[in-house]
Amino acid sequence: MFEQIDEYLRKAKKIVIVTGAGISQESGIPTFRGKDGWWRNYDAMKLATIDAFYENPKLVWEWYNERRQNIFAAEPNLGHKAIVELENYLEVVVLTQNIDGLHQRAGSSKVLELHGSIVKIKCTACDYMDEITSNFLEFPPVCKCGNILRPDVVWFGESLPQDVWKEAIAHANSCDVMVIAGTSLAVSPANTLPIYAKQNNSILVEINPDQTIMSSDMDISIRSTSAKTLSELVSIFKK
Ligand code: OAD
Repeated sequence: MFEQIDEYLRKAKKIVIVTGAGISQESGIPTFRGKDGWWRNYDAMKLATIDAFYENPKLVWEWYNERRQNIFAAEPNLGHKAIVELENYLEVVVLTQNIDGLHQRAGSSKVLELHGSIVKIKCTACDYMDEITSNFLEFPPVCKCGNILRPDVVWFGESLPQDVWKEAIAHANSCDVMVIAGTSLAVSPANTLPIYAKQNNSILVEINPDQTIMSSDMDISIRSTSAKTLSELVSIFKK
């Protein structure tokens, strides 16, 4: 299997890496689905929709606050770092569904955040927006304009930032290899990115310890963790 990837990677000029919660799992950040995932014990519709937010902003904020503490204490793992190293050998674009900022903290130079960022906070009414890593003292936090603040993330039912999404499609459409690491591909529209890549005859490589709903569409599926496998992909270039 690695011989096949070896050949594809050496020929490739541009690689797009689509990531999800699984890539940060080895940094101690829980995934959403699966046995230890958030959605096993929590209802996504009560925590990650705009209706849920307006119904109980305190509850939603307390959940985001817990995640902010977890994420700010976490460090990029070997998977994030391997992606940075790939930049020494070819053009690398990261399209992430993660809001944790770990790709950027690892040093990746081109990261598109499809679902926003947990560091960024915006007002629900005025155009205030800022990156805030300090703790809020009460929930929900309130803007200077008097309205409540929210995390600048994409909730279920909300559109992706259109400029980011358009750019993501353009990259998916123009890569030679797309590596899909640590995502269940259960959420649309991010899960259509492999289809755009296929339109450019890209090679699809999935890295996931478990099968996903799109495994049968992959050219290569590697059933292992992203930290181990992405490090192995980098070592191909060092031979
Ligand atoms: P999921 O929790 O749906 O999927 C995580 C995937 O990572 C699963 O397929 C796991 O098998 C895999 N995985 C777990 N550990 C791994 C490891 N060490 N290495 C590689 N893979 C591993 O997370 P996402 O696909 O990111 O959206 O979920 C997509 C969206 O659904 C999220 O952005 C979030 C969520 O609800 C919103 O909240 C709007």
